[in-house]
Amino acid sequence: MNNFDVTIIGSGPGGYVAAIRCAQLGFKTALIEKYSTLGGTCLNVGCIPSKALLDSSEHFHNALHNFENFGIQIDTPKVDLGRMIQRKNEVVEQTTKGINFLMDKNKISVFQGVGTFISATRLAVKKEDGSSEELESKYFIIATGSKPVNLPFAPVDKERIITSTEALNLKEIPKHLLVIGGGVIGLELGSVYKRLGAEVTVIEFLDRLIPTMDGALSKELQKVLKKQGMKFSLSTKVTDVVREGEKVSVQAVDKNGKEVTFEGDYCLVAVGRKPYTEGLGLDNVGIEMDERGRVKVNSHLQTNIPNIYAIGDVVQGAMLAHKAEEEGVLVAEQLAGQKPHIDYNLIPGVVYTWPEVAGVGKTEEQLVEEGRKYKTGQFPMRALGRARASGDIDGFVKILADETTDEVLGMHIISARAADLIADAVTLLEYRASAEDITRMSHAHPTYAEAIKEAALDATGKRAIHF
Ligand code: FAD
Ligand code: NAI
Repeated sequence: MNNFDVTIIGSGPGGYVAAIRCAQLGFKTALIEKYSTLGGTCLNVGCIPSKALLDSSEHFHNALHNFENFGIQIDTPKVDLGRMIQRKNEVVEQTTKGINFLMDKNKISVFQGVGTFISATRLAVKKEDGSSEELESKYFIIATGSKPVNLPFAPVDKERIITSTEALNLKEIPKHLLVIGGGVIGLELGSVYKRLGAEVTVIEFLDRLIPTMDGALSKELQKVLKKQGMKFSLSTKVTDVVREGEKVSVQAVDKNGKEVTFEGDYCLVAVGRKPYTEGLGLDNVGIEMDERGRVKVNSHLQTNIPNIYAIGDVVQGAMLAHKAEEEGVLVAEQLAGQKPHIDYNLIPGVVYTWPEVAGVGKTEEQLVEEGRKYKTGQFPMRALGRARASGDIDGFVKILADETTDEVLGMHIISARAADLIADAVTLLEYRASAEDITRMSHAHPTYAEAIKEAALDATGKRAIHF
């Protein structure tokens, strides 16, 4: 019998990070993964492969549309989709192999197979060939992640009606990609194929894109993507999706109650993800779930069975890799008797379109709903020297600060490198900076970050220098 202090089920960013932290803290640790490669959704079919394709497609887009303006003459570039996908696979392979190395280095025992609870202290690990082994553990951490939500009337056939997983592995560039869902996946993968030459139409149920982010970001992103040629049908309820040969048609009802049909050759269904607990045997131990099928946890991420914890996409909260990682560390440190804390308000959200979109803290909509008195400051990227030099003039920085105390409550950015700029915003909110504090800090010139200072100047008495 294998005996462990902590056993983690699922090797995504929640699970593998929890395993490393447990090992660092001296626990005898096991990691169970049903797939042959480690890293979960994020490394295999999520964050990393999507960013690799976003980078490839952005290079192509720039070569095709922007090089000439920068004084670079080339013959008309062509897409080699096979090579793009191959490069993406190489990036994934290097990254997942890196996790194997980290497991070895930290002396974590990795078991390949599906983990199923037998009791609160015993787990069976079943391999594909039918063989199985059992292990005992004092504590368990469930980190089994999520999978795409299906629409009952949009049967995913993985060929023409696809999820993000298939969209990362297409053999051809769609002529017309229909995207159901104007959230993060729809816009990131829609951007990839738009840049590679596809026509892309996004059909969104709500009246705006990226609905969980600040409304000003939704508006600006829609404007910019429209300029790039993406089409949008908002406030549109999809009722049916039908494939006929190489064609896919989406039936929907638009905002005026009129029936509309969208015709394409591929349809990406990207309407959210749901927690994944199949095969875990939660019933065998009586682990409670919430009304949305998530593993129910308390503020310590502990389930109703005291020695079993759960983290990441399988529990409540944003379905983000860095949120899962923070939770993995939190559980490990709690088990070691430490008192860690996560401020969920300070988990940033990023969309890797171009320009990138990023936000942290409260959105304006949340402040209005809370009835909090606030002031705003905004600064357009086009007024920055750095942005003009690189040709990235779309977007802005928006700061929300408490009207009385001046404490920064939220920062929302759409710009080149917003994904990296948001780290500054997290630091400022973590240390509870006031907008005035930001105006007194030197920001290197010329940088995109100067827009943060200028937005703070705008928030504190409309005294931006360059606008
Ligand atoms: P997962 O990464 O889903 O890992 C769970 C693992 O558990 C899987 O490997 C699964 O095989 C395994 N498993 C499940 N059940 C069992 C079992 N019974 N026994 C053994 N193993 C089991 N987030 C970001 O923050 N930034 C991004 O840029 C980003 N891009 C994304 C792009 C796409 C296309 C997608 C789909 C997602 C993206 N995400 C991104 C979200 C991110 O991937 C998830 O939030 C993150 O992977 C969640 O981590 P996790 O550890 O909870 O679960
Ligand atoms: P999402 O929740 O971001 O967006 C889904 C969108 O689909 C929403 O705008 C929703 O209103 C819309 N929708 C729902 N039902 C619909 C219907 N029937 N018809 C039309 N539209 C409908 O989910 P998405 O894009 O699938 O991503 C899943 C998760 O993966 C997200 O929670 C996200 O956090 C994570 N992710 C994160 C990324 C990042 O951090 N950059 C990148 C990709 C995914």
